[in-house]
Amino acid sequence: MNLAVLISGRGSNFSSLVDAQKKGQIGVADIKILISNNASAKGIDYAKKNKIPFFVLSDKEWESEIVSLLEKHKIQLVCLAGFMRIISPELINFMKGWIVNIHPSLLPAFPGLNVHQRVLESKFPFSGCTVHWVDEGVDTGPIIDQRVVPVLKGDDEEKLSSRILKEEHKLYPSVVKKIADGDFVPFFMEEK
Ligand code: GAR
Repeated sequence: MNLAVLISGRGSNFSSLVDAQKKGQIGVADIKILISNNASAKGIDYAKKNKIPFFVLSDKEWESEIVSLLEKHKIQLVCLAGFMRIISPELINFMKGWIVNIHPSLLPAFPGLNVHQRVLESKFPFSGCTVHWVDEGVDTGPIIDQRVVPVLKGDDEEKLSSRILKEEHKLYPSVVKKIADGDFVPFFMEEK
């Protein structure tokens, strides 16, 4: 199963997927390309180091360029990993729903930005991370799998986000493996 990973910044989830592939932990999933909308995204360094072709797309030409890249590399699953752009309905239809995203909260709670700050303000004792199919909303698509992470006394955004990130790095590869194994399909597309 040919994968494209899309990032905007640090790229630690991208790196964890690459590492998982090296260890044989994502089954037949094969990371073919990295795409970024930010030329200075740190994650690009890891693609270079691992000889994974990477592409930086300008915001202007985005839609047409990404479709031709996905076509050219016969991409079957798009993994959003800290990709901070809304995915258009056209792109979702082009991929027939085969787009997943990781988000650092227990969706449907706390979609969007500034997640950890809002969780801490809410005094909710748990947070976590979610991998979900991407639909036309922001962090609203059908949930595939989640991990619960406790909010501890004395947590600040940095402490909470790094505890959650550790779980993200296990959750994303495990979900990608299950998708590659055929355990999950974007069923919501079939209803359209
Ligand atoms: C991750 O925590 C990811 O869950 C989050 O951005 C961070 C990217 O880190 N994504 C979202 O908030 C999407 N709504 P990374 O670039 O090190 O993988």
